[in-house]
Amino acid sequence: MEQTIVRLRDEATQQLTQISNAADLEEFRIRYLGRKGLFGTIMRELGTVSAEERPRLGQLANSVKAAIEDLFAEKQTALAGDTRTKKGQGSIDISLPGRYPEQGRLHPVTQIMNEVCAIFEALGFSVAEGPDVEQDHYNFEALNIPAHHPARDMHDSFYVSESILLRTHTSPMQARIMEACQPPLRVIAPGKVYRCDSDITHTPMFHQVEGFLVDTKVSFADLKGVLTIFTQKMFAKDLALRFRPSFFPFTEPSAEVDIACVICGGAGCRVCKQTGWLEILGAGMIDPEVFRMVGYDPEVYSGFAFGLGIERIAMLKYGINDIRLYYENDLRFLSQF
Ligand code: FA5
Repeated sequence: MEQTIVRLRDEATQQLTQISNAADLEEFRIRYLGRKGLFGTIMRELGTVSAEERPRLGQLANSVKAAIEDLFAEKQTALAGDTRTKKGQGSIDISLPGRYPEQGRLHPVTQIMNEVCAIFEALGFSVAEGPDVEQDHYNFEALNIPAHHPARDMHDSFYVSESILLRTHTSPMQARIMEACQPPLRVIAPGKVYRCDSDITHTPMFHQVEGFLVDTKVSFADLKGVLTIFTQKMFAKDLALRFRPSFFPFTEPSAEVDIACVICGGAGCRVCKQTGWLEILGAGMIDPEVFRMVGYDPEVYSGFAFGLGIERIAMLKYGINDIRLYYENDLRFLSQF
């Protein structure tokens, strides 16, 4: 009996070391540890041994069975771990927190540009675009600014050649459109413009939206009405607007339009140069000379035009006190909008 128990221990231990899958382990359990298994048979046979031998052999059989059960449990744990590892390979742990993709957004100047265009489109203006690299003719001559005219000094221009330059404003679009189309006209022309200029309210490249309306019997009151509606929609209803007499060779009379500085509330600050006002656009009634150059009869037609500075509007809308921040490409700044 003792030899049978020892042989069974050696055989079971040996077999367990060779088992490498759950099915074989289950077979082992039935064969050795199951109710009708080999250890069960030994326990039953203990009843047949003499009373003197029974305690010793019983103790031996129990300790061997317990040892084999421990080895069996160890093997079971090892095989379960293996299965988990295999299952986990190449799969996704859905309990981990997700990683959000970075969301892109439009540049604040583009956002304001879109907003400005939408307001004028709702008022019935169509959108036209023209070249950044412009002929001297459209940038100046066709706008009543002949060569050597002192008004050219107002624009610090980037020349590409004698007669080609980066446009200094979007007003050339007035001449281009009027040359190609007949009134009535209601057009806006958004785009980039370039001037050799840089400080907290000026950048060498900035954006303008040109707007013009040509028809019979158009008056300065129409211009004031359209610009008042625009500023009310863009800012607040009660924002103060100021028309200051000015001069542009292509409009007569001309005005520069300021709105109350939203950064200091009109009290005076660095941005509004202590005036309480910030200039956002130039405007006026289209000069009869410009009409003559494109073949319109100034006795029949009249019209107004304006040119808005988009970065200035974006500064006021978002309370930005240095225009250059828009172009430093600092994501901490840009991602706020
Ligand atoms: C003009 O450019 C005229 N073409 C506007 C115009 C159109 C007048 C139609 C009459 C009829 P001005 O140089 O003032 O005007 O510029 C218009 C606006 O552009 C300014 O009010 C300002 O808001 C903006 N601006 C001008 N220079 C800069 C600059 N360097 N950086 C950023 N914004 C500027």
